[in-house]
Amino acid sequence: MRLNQETGRTRKLRKVRALEQGTAFGGEAAAARARISAITGEPLARVSLRTALEDLQLLGNAIPGDSWKAWRALLLASRGEPLRDDELAQFRQLTEREEPPVERVQEFYCVIGRRGGKSRAIATLLTYLATMVDYRGKLASGEIPVVLCLSPSQEQSGIILSYVKGILRESPILAQLIARETAEQIELTNHVTINVRAASFRRLRGQTCVAAVFDEIAFFMSDESSNPDTEILAAVKPSLATTGGPLIAISSPHRRKGVLWEAFKAHFGAKGNPSILVAKGTSRELNPCLTEEFVNRELEKDPAFGAAEYLAEFPPILKLSSAMRRSTPAPTVVLKSAPTSAAGPTLASSTRAVARMTVSRWRLATKRAKPPCSI
Ligand SMILES: Nc1ncnc2c1ncn2[C@@H]1O[C@H](COP(=O)(O)OP(=O)(O)O)[C@@H](O)[C@H]1O
Ligand SMILES: [Mg+2]
Repeated sequence: MRLNQETGRTRKLRKVRALEQGTAFGGEAAAARARISAITGEPLARVSLRTALEDLQLLGNAIPGDSWKAWRALLLASRGEPLRDDELAQFRQLTEREEPPVERVQEFYCVIGRRGGKSRAIATLLTYLATMVDYRGKLASGEIPVVLCLSPSQEQSGIILSYVKGILRESPILAQLIARETAEQIELTNHVTINVRAASFRRLRGQTCVAAVFDEIAFFMSDESSNPDTEILAAVKPSLATTGGPLIAISSPHRRKGVLWEAFKAHFGAKGNPSILVAKGTSRELNPCLTEEFVNRELEKDPAFGAAEYLAEFPPILKLSSAMRRSTPAPTVVLKSAPTSAAGPTLASSTRAVARMTVSRWRLATKRAKPPCSI
């Protein structure tokens, strides 16, 4: 397939950045190098994500086929790798940016609906970052590079870790890199450790992270803080400082507050900082195998909840109306701009009205042709 048109200067810039950042492009040559590394026991380094995703010996089984195309486009864009025409169209739809990054982004946020493949995509990215990127120039001797993944609960971390283990074992080359496995980490023979655990303030100091990935960051909870996502992020950032590693957060939306909302508000679309990429997509845009009937049923059951869960819409902020403040002893809240009924507005009626508008917009959007499923 034809690569999307790039100028010679852009291509050159990509190559320079790729070398600086420890990735490299080179299709066949990189794949061959990966195989040679497996034979000699040398660390696999500098294999591009595209090469890895296309090679069944590497990550070719992780997110395969047409149904994962949107995720592949996003992950490749986040690494600054060139996109094909069809991938570029999906990149534009999900990021509302015309041009994909020409180098690996520093921060990458995805606001994606439930069952949209977030955990599997994270596991694929974690595996790639731990096995095929060269960190040697960024570490002091003896320093152990950690690819860190935090998620809201131990149970959720367990799901990601088992995805990562499955992806490693499915690859005859990567399987050989597993040195030791524990309940929350995998140590690799290239000295990188993949650490997947529940988000908490404990044990965040002292590590050197080459990448930090946050799963469902909008749902981080803690007894120690009312803003755990913001504070955990601030605690992790110093561990990335010496390596310049990427910070990645993939989550369903939950409220108009916190790390995910702030990143979306400031950086979604063309106005955003080019080194911070934000994508937003419904569950079915990222996972076309999820049936429209299922999503419809969920939206009928609870439009407001369903819009956040499956359409990746941040729930609107609710404000007290002056009418409700005067008339009700216990405060009832309404959306300021929402339509009101004769009996007066209520939280439920107003939220449902806004959710219904979102759902009907979504129904119009889903009249588009459906991409085929690979599973
Ligand atoms: N694009 C896709 N193509 C095929 N299967 C998918 C896709 N996205 C998700 N799935 C499947 O849907 C299920 C839920 O995926 P998961 O990554 O756990 O979703 P999330 O974390 O977004 O809730 C898994 O079985 C996964 O393999
Ligand atoms: Mg998940």
